[in-house]
Amino acid sequence: MIHLLCGAFEHYADVRSFLRTIMLIAYLLCFICKHTNHLFSQVQLRVGNANKRRIQIHLMKRVAIIYESLYGNTRQIAEEIRDGLRESGNIEVRLANPGGIHTDKLCDYDIILFGSPNHNQAPTLNIMKYIDRVSIVGLENKFGAVFDTYTGGNEGIATKKLEKTIKEKIPGITLVIDGVSFKVSGRKGPLIEGETERARQMGRTLREKIPEE
Ligand SMILES: Cc1cc2nc3c(=O)[nH]c(=O)nc-3n(C[C@H](O)[C@H](O)[C@H](O)COP(=O)(O)O)c2cc1C
Repeated sequence: MIHLLCGAFEHYADVRSFLRTIMLIAYLLCFICKHTNHLFSQVQLRVGNANKRRIQIHLMKRVAIIYESLYGNTRQIAEEIRDGLRESGNIEVRLANPGGIHTDKLCDYDIILFGSPNHNQAPTLNIMKYIDRVSIVGLENKFGAVFDTYTGGNEGIATKKLEKTIKEKIPGITLVIDGVSFKVSGRKGPLIEGETERARQMGRTLREKIPEE
């Protein structure tokens, strides 16, 4: 009898420790979900019409805009692109200088943009070095686009170099739209009229090109 009771108690203790483990795992999962606002930062459940009763799960897209800006014009363009992307909602956009997002963390983003002022007929060295570092990490199944700012007759020169380098070094990024160049009036700017609206439109167009799932 005592033997039986001890057996039951042991079993009961096992169940209790099992339940405690489950609760600990659940708690940890809640903690992780709360503190990582990426991956599943927004899950929308949408029930379709009554006939189909289909449930779609939309995960929020994450965008990283990596840019450099000496006088603030390229940053302004990056901000407008961000605002254009955000207009349709369900998207999270982070602006960062090279080094602002560690290359190891880029895999958390679905869409990656690179923007640079034209310096001596090319993107800046910092942006190019960043792309080099990303190429070592390697990325897969990402979407992307590039943009530049320029003064003289150098429209598209830096974007073309960016596109060529990305295709060679980070083939896991599919460039979904052609690179866009934005003109500044003089080395320090400001941007010429209409360029901020074009940048916002670039954000909208880019958003439309990204498949939902
Ligand atoms: C060192 C340097 C070199 C530049 N070389 C060029 C050039 O070759 N072609 C061009 O169109 N603009 C050139 N520019 C002008 C930049 O493109 C302009 O300053 C930039 O678009 C402004 O952007 P930001 O305010 O983000 O720095 C140069 C500017 C600097 C500072």
